[in-house]
Amino acid sequence: MVTVRKLEDLKREIKKVKANNLSIGFVPTMGYLHDGHKSLMERARKENDVVVASIFVNPIQFGPNEDYEEYPRDEEHDAKVCMEAGCDIVFMPQASEMYPDGFCTYVEVSGLTEVLCGAARPGHFKGVCTVVTKLFNLVRPDKAYFGQKDAQQLAVIRKMVSDLALGIEIVGCPIVREADGLAMSSRNSYLSADERQQALVLSQSLNIAEKLVRHGVRDVTYIRNEMVNHIGTAKSASLEYVDFVDPNSLMPVEKIEGEVLVAVAVKIGKTRLIDNKVVTG
Ligand code: PAJ
Repeated sequence: MVTVRKLEDLKREIKKVKANNLSIGFVPTMGYLHDGHKSLMERARKENDVVVASIFVNPIQFGPNEDYEEYPRDEEHDAKVCMEAGCDIVFMPQASEMYPDGFCTYVEVSGLTEVLCGAARPGHFKGVCTVVTKLFNLVRPDKAYFGQKDAQQLAVIRKMVSDLALGIEIVGCPIVREADGLAMSSRNSYLSADERQQALVLSQSLNIAEKLVRHGVRDVTYIRNEMVNHIGTAKSASLEYVDFVDPNSLMPVEKIEGEVLVAVAVKIGKTRLIDNKVVTG
Protein backbone atom coordinates (compact mmCIF):
# COMPACT_ATOMS: atom_id res chain seq x y z
CA MET A 1 0.00 0.00 0.00
CA VAL A 2 1.32 3.44 -0.82
CA THR A 3 0.25 6.60 0.97
CA VAL A 4 0.40 9.87 -0.94
CA ARG A 5 -0.32 13.40 0.26
CA LYS A 6 0.38 15.56 -2.78
CA LEU A 7 -1.80 15.85 -5.90
CA GLU A 8 1.24 15.31 -8.12
CA ASP A 9 2.16 12.07 -6.33
CA LEU A 10 -1.39 10.76 -6.62
CA LYS A 11 -1.48 11.63 -10.33
CA ARG A 12 1.80 9.78 -10.87
CA GLU A 13 0.49 6.64 -9.12
CA ILE A 14 -2.76 6.73 -11.10
CA LYS A 15 -0.87 7.17 -14.36
CA LYS A 16 1.05 3.96 -13.66
CA VAL A 17 -2.18 2.06 -12.97
CA LYS A 18 -3.80 3.38 -16.15
CA ALA A 19 -0.70 2.54 -18.22
CA ASN A 20 -1.18 -1.07 -17.14
CA ASN A 21 -4.85 -0.99 -18.13
CA LEU A 22 -5.99 -1.90 -14.63
CA SER A 23 -9.46 -1.06 -13.29
CA ILE A 24 -9.76 1.32 -10.34
CA GLY A 25 -12.28 1.18 -7.48
CA PHE A 26 -12.41 4.34 -5.35
CA VAL A 27 -13.66 4.88 -1.78
CA PRO A 28 -13.75 8.53 -0.66
CA THR A 29 -13.90 9.03 3.12
CA MET A 30 -13.26 11.59 5.84
CA GLY A 31 -11.35 9.04 7.93
CA TYR A 32 -11.73 7.87 11.52
CA LEU A 33 -12.54 4.64 9.75
CA HIS A 34 -14.97 2.02 11.08
CA ASP A 35 -16.46 -1.19 9.72
CA GLY A 36 -18.90 0.78 7.53
CA HIS A 37 -16.01 2.38 5.64
CA LYS A 38 -14.19 -0.96 5.62
CA SER A 39 -17.16 -2.71 3.98
CA LEU A 40 -16.92 -0.24 1.07
CA MET A 41 -13.21 -0.94 0.69
CA GLU A 42 -13.74 -4.70 0.82
CA ARG A 43 -16.42 -4.49 -1.84
CA ALA A 44 -14.10 -2.37 -4.00
CA ARG A 45 -11.34 -4.94 -3.41
CA LYS A 46 -13.57 -7.70 -4.83
CA GLU A 47 -14.61 -5.77 -7.92
CA ASN A 48 -11.45 -3.97 -9.13
CA ASP A 49 -7.76 -4.51 -9.89
CA VAL A 50 -6.67 -1.52 -7.84
CA VAL A 51 -8.37 0.08 -4.80
CA VAL A 52 -7.83 3.74 -4.00
CA ALA A 53 -9.13 5.32 -0.77
CA SER A 54 -9.05 8.97 0.20
CA ILE A 55 -9.02 10.29 3.74
CA PHE A 56 -9.78 13.97 3.85
CA VAL A 57 -11.88 15.98 6.30
CA ASN A 58 -13.31 18.33 3.70
CA PRO A 59 -13.61 21.82 5.23
CA ILE A 60 -16.02 23.19 2.59
CA GLN A 61 -18.79 20.70 3.42
CA PHE A 62 -19.00 21.92 7.04
CA GLY A 63 -21.12 24.94 7.97
CA PRO A 64 -19.66 27.76 10.08
CA ASN A 65 -21.22 26.38 13.29
CA GLU A 66 -20.48 22.75 12.56
CA ASP A 67 -17.82 20.34 13.82
CA TYR A 68 -14.94 20.73 11.30
CA GLU A 69 -12.37 21.47 14.01
CA GLU A 70 -13.62 18.74 16.38
CA TYR A 71 -14.14 16.10 13.70
CA PRO A 72 -12.22 13.00 14.92
CA ARG A 73 -8.93 12.20 13.20
CA ASP A 74 -6.59 9.21 13.56
CA GLU A 75 -4.22 8.71 10.63
CA GLU A 76 -2.41 5.74 12.11
CA HIS A 77 -5.59 3.77 12.75
CA ASP A 78 -6.94 4.74 9.32
CA ALA A 79 -3.82 3.51 7.54
CA LYS A 80 -4.16 0.18 9.38
CA VAL A 81 -7.83 -0.23 8.33
CA CYS A 82 -6.97 0.61 4.70
CA MET A 83 -4.17 -1.96 4.78
CA GLU A 84 -6.42 -4.67 6.28
CA ALA A 85 -9.11 -3.98 3.68
CA GLY A 86 -6.59 -4.38 0.87
CA CYS A 87 -6.30 -0.79 -0.38
CA ASP A 88 -3.43 -0.17 -2.80
CA ILE A 89 -3.25 3.62 -2.74
CA VAL A 90 -4.34 5.93 0.09
CA PHE A 91 -4.61 9.66 -0.57
CA MET A 92 -4.38 11.85 2.55
CA PRO A 93 -4.06 15.47 1.42
CA GLN A 94 -3.86 18.64 3.50
CA ALA A 95 -6.67 21.17 3.01
CA SER A 96 -4.19 23.57 1.37
CA GLU A 97 -3.37 20.88 -1.20
CA MET A 98 -7.03 20.48 -2.21
CA TYR A 99 -7.95 24.16 -1.84
CA PRO A 100 -4.95 26.35 -2.59
CA ASP A 101 -5.33 30.12 -2.23
CA GLY A 102 -7.70 31.48 -4.84
CA PHE A 103 -9.74 28.29 -5.25
CA CYS A 104 -13.18 29.41 -6.47
CA THR A 105 -14.82 26.68 -8.54
CA TYR A 106 -17.77 24.72 -7.15
CA VAL A 107 -20.13 21.96 -8.29
CA GLU A 108 -23.77 22.29 -7.31
CA VAL A 109 -26.64 19.84 -7.81
CA SER A 110 -29.92 21.72 -7.40
CA GLY A 111 -33.28 20.31 -6.23
CA LEU A 112 -32.09 17.14 -4.54
CA THR A 113 -29.90 19.14 -2.19
CA GLU A 114 -32.53 21.44 -0.73
CA VAL A 115 -34.49 18.74 1.14
CA LEU A 116 -33.65 16.44 4.09
CA CYS A 117 -30.11 17.23 5.36
CA GLY A 118 -29.69 19.97 2.76
CA ALA A 119 -32.42 22.05 4.40
CA ALA A 120 -30.57 22.28 7.71
CA ARG A 121 -27.08 22.29 6.18
CA PRO A 122 -27.04 24.89 3.38
CA GLY A 123 -23.92 24.54 1.22
CA HIS A 124 -23.13 21.07 2.57
CA PHE A 125 -23.79 19.18 -0.66
CA LYS A 126 -22.05 21.85 -2.72
CA GLY A 127 -18.95 21.08 -0.64
CA VAL A 128 -19.45 17.34 -1.05
CA CYS A 129 -20.01 17.52 -4.82
CA THR A 130 -17.01 19.81 -5.32
CA VAL A 131 -14.58 17.60 -3.40
CA VAL A 132 -15.93 14.39 -4.92
CA THR A 133 -15.61 15.83 -8.44
CA LYS A 134 -12.03 16.90 -7.77
CA LEU A 135 -11.21 13.48 -6.30
CA PHE A 136 -12.89 11.73 -9.27
CA ASN A 137 -10.76 13.82 -11.65
CA LEU A 138 -7.59 12.89 -9.80
CA VAL A 139 -8.32 9.17 -9.31
CA ARG A 140 -10.24 8.59 -12.56
CA PRO A 141 -11.99 5.49 -11.13
CA ASP A 142 -14.11 2.96 -13.01
CA LYS A 143 -16.30 2.48 -9.95
CA ALA A 144 -16.80 4.53 -6.79
CA TYR A 145 -18.34 3.22 -3.57
CA PHE A 146 -20.74 5.12 -1.32
CA GLY A 147 -22.75 4.02 1.72
CA GLN A 148 -26.53 3.94 1.88
CA LYS A 149 -26.00 5.40 5.38
CA ASP A 150 -25.82 8.80 3.64
CA ALA A 151 -28.75 8.07 1.33
CA GLN A 152 -29.14 11.67 0.17
CA GLN A 153 -25.43 11.96 -0.60
CA LEU A 154 -25.65 8.75 -2.66
CA ALA A 155 -28.66 10.08 -4.64
CA VAL A 156 -26.94 13.46 -5.19
CA ILE A 157 -23.69 11.85 -6.39
CA ARG A 158 -25.60 9.54 -8.76
CA LYS A 159 -27.40 12.57 -10.23
CA MET A 160 -24.18 14.56 -10.57
CA VAL A 161 -22.39 11.68 -12.31
CA SER A 162 -25.34 11.23 -14.68
CA ASP A 163 -25.87 14.96 -15.41
CA LEU A 164 -22.17 15.63 -16.03
CA ALA A 165 -21.60 12.31 -17.87
CA LEU A 166 -18.65 11.50 -15.65
CA GLY A 167 -18.73 7.86 -16.78
CA ILE A 168 -18.14 6.39 -13.32
CA GLU A 169 -20.26 3.56 -11.96
CA ILE A 170 -21.60 4.52 -8.52
CA VAL A 171 -22.01 1.51 -6.25
CA GLY A 172 -24.33 1.93 -3.24
CA CYS A 173 -23.44 -0.26 -0.24
CA PRO A 174 -25.66 -1.34 2.69
CA ILE A 175 -25.57 0.35 6.11
CA VAL A 176 -23.26 -1.39 8.59
CA ARG A 177 -24.65 -1.33 12.14
CA GLU A 178 -23.43 -2.02 15.65
CA ALA A 179 -24.84 -5.22 17.23
CA ASP A 180 -27.64 -3.20 18.90
CA GLY A 181 -28.69 -1.50 15.64
CA LEU A 182 -26.93 1.89 15.86
CA ALA A 183 -25.65 2.81 12.39
CA MET A 184 -21.85 3.11 12.49
CA SER A 185 -20.60 6.68 12.17
CA SER A 186 -17.38 8.51 12.96
CA ARG A 187 -19.57 10.98 14.89
CA ASN A 188 -20.73 8.25 17.33
CA SER A 189 -17.43 8.93 19.13
CA TYR A 190 -18.94 12.23 20.37
CA LEU A 191 -21.64 10.40 22.38
CA SER A 192 -21.41 9.86 26.14
CA ALA A 193 -22.36 6.36 27.39
CA ASP A 194 -25.85 7.63 28.24
CA GLU A 195 -26.28 9.37 24.88
CA ARG A 196 -24.99 6.27 23.08
CA GLN A 197 -27.91 4.35 24.64
CA GLN A 198 -30.42 7.08 23.73
CA ALA A 199 -29.12 7.13 20.14
CA LEU A 200 -30.81 3.77 19.60
CA VAL A 201 -34.11 5.61 19.06
CA LEU A 202 -33.05 6.33 15.46
CA SER A 203 -32.72 2.72 14.32
CA GLN A 204 -35.60 1.64 16.58
CA SER A 205 -37.93 4.22 15.02
CA LEU A 206 -37.01 2.91 11.56
CA ASN A 207 -37.76 -0.62 12.73
CA ILE A 208 -41.17 0.61 13.92
CA ALA A 209 -41.81 2.04 10.43
CA GLU A 210 -40.74 -1.19 8.76
CA LYS A 211 -42.99 -3.25 11.03
CA LEU A 212 -46.02 -1.02 10.42
CA VAL A 213 -45.48 -1.23 6.65
CA ARG A 214 -45.17 -5.01 6.92
CA HIS A 215 -48.52 -5.05 8.72
CA GLY A 216 -50.13 -3.15 5.86
CA VAL A 217 -50.05 0.46 7.10
CA ARG A 218 -49.59 2.80 4.12
CA ASP A 219 -50.40 6.20 5.65
CA VAL A 220 -47.20 8.20 6.08
CA THR A 221 -48.69 10.58 8.68
CA TYR A 222 -49.61 7.68 10.96
CA ILE A 223 -46.18 6.03 10.65
CA ARG A 224 -44.41 9.33 11.15
CA ASN A 225 -46.34 10.00 14.39
CA GLU A 226 -45.38 6.61 15.79
CA MET A 227 -41.73 7.27 14.95
CA VAL A 228 -41.73 10.79 16.39
CA ASN A 229 -43.33 9.53 19.61
CA HIS A 230 -40.64 6.90 19.99
CA ILE A 231 -37.82 9.35 19.31
CA GLY A 232 -39.38 11.63 21.96
CA THR A 233 -38.77 8.95 24.62
CA ALA A 234 -35.03 9.79 24.54
CA LYS A 235 -34.56 12.74 26.93
CA SER A 236 -31.62 14.30 25.02
CA ALA A 237 -33.20 13.89 21.58
CA SER A 238 -34.23 16.84 19.44
CA LEU A 239 -35.81 15.91 16.17
CA GLU A 240 -34.65 17.53 12.93
CA TYR A 241 -36.73 15.48 10.50
CA VAL A 242 -38.53 12.21 9.83
CA ASP A 243 -39.19 12.20 6.10
CA PHE A 244 -40.67 9.79 3.57
CA VAL A 245 -39.30 10.32 0.07
CA ASP A 246 -38.71 8.64 -3.27
CA PRO A 247 -35.22 7.03 -3.03
CA ASN A 248 -34.03 8.57 -6.32
CA SER A 249 -35.77 11.93 -6.70
CA LEU A 250 -36.00 12.52 -2.90
CA MET A 251 -39.48 14.00 -3.51
CA PRO A 252 -41.86 13.55 -0.56
CA VAL A 253 -44.48 10.81 -0.75
CA GLU A 254 -47.78 10.61 1.13
CA LYS A 255 -48.42 6.90 0.81
CA ILE A 256 -46.14 3.89 1.01
CA GLU A 257 -46.29 2.57 -2.53
CA GLY A 258 -43.29 0.78 -4.02
CA GLU A 259 -39.92 1.67 -2.51
CA VAL A 260 -39.89 4.57 -0.06
CA LEU A 261 -36.84 5.98 1.73
CA VAL A 262 -37.61 6.69 5.39
CA ALA A 263 -34.92 9.08 6.61
CA VAL A 264 -34.36 10.49 10.10
CA ALA A 265 -32.06 13.15 11.53
CA VAL A 266 -31.96 13.63 15.30
CA LYS A 267 -29.66 15.51 17.60
CA ILE A 268 -28.71 13.53 20.69
CA GLY A 269 -27.34 16.22 22.96
CA LYS A 270 -25.00 18.15 20.66
CA THR A 271 -24.40 15.27 18.24
CA ARG A 272 -26.36 15.24 15.00
CA LEU A 273 -27.07 11.67 13.84
CA ILE A 274 -28.77 10.36 10.70
CA ASP A 275 -30.17 6.98 9.72
CA ASN A 276 -32.55 5.57 7.13
CA LYS A 277 -34.26 2.51 5.77
CA VAL A 278 -35.92 1.69 2.47
CA VAL A 279 -39.38 0.18 2.99
CA THR A 280 -41.53 -1.41 0.30
CA GLY A 281 -45.31 -1.11 0.16
P1 PAJ B 1 -17.63 9.74 5.55
O1 PAJ B 1 -18.69 10.21 6.47
O2 PAJ B 1 -16.28 9.41 6.10
O3 PAJ B 1 -18.18 8.47 4.81
C1 PAJ B 1 -17.45 7.87 3.76
C2 PAJ B 1 -18.33 6.81 3.10
O4 PAJ B 1 -18.61 5.79 4.06
C3 PAJ B 1 -19.67 7.38 2.64
O5 PAJ B 1 -20.00 6.85 1.37
C4 PAJ B 1 -20.62 6.90 3.72
O6 PAJ B 1 -21.96 6.76 3.28
C5 PAJ B 1 -20.01 5.56 4.07
N1 PAJ B 1 -20.45 5.12 5.40
C6 PAJ B 1 -20.38 5.82 6.56
N2 PAJ B 1 -20.95 5.11 7.57
C7 PAJ B 1 -21.39 3.94 7.02
C8 PAJ B 1 -22.07 2.80 7.55
N3 PAJ B 1 -22.41 2.70 8.83
N4 PAJ B 1 -22.36 1.79 6.69
C9 PAJ B 1 -22.02 1.88 5.37
N5 PAJ B 1 -21.38 2.93 4.82
C10 PAJ B 1 -21.07 3.95 5.63
O7 PAJ B 1 -19.42 10.73 3.39
C11 PAJ B 1 -18.35 11.30 3.54
O8 PAJ B 1 -17.38 10.84 4.39
C12 PAJ B 1 -17.98 12.58 2.80
O9 PAJ B 1 -19.12 13.34 2.58
C13 PAJ B 1 -17.24 12.30 1.45
C14 PAJ B 1 -18.12 11.52 0.47
C15 PAJ B 1 -15.93 11.55 1.71
C16 PAJ B 1 -16.88 13.66 0.80
O10 PAJ B 1 -16.10 14.43 1.63
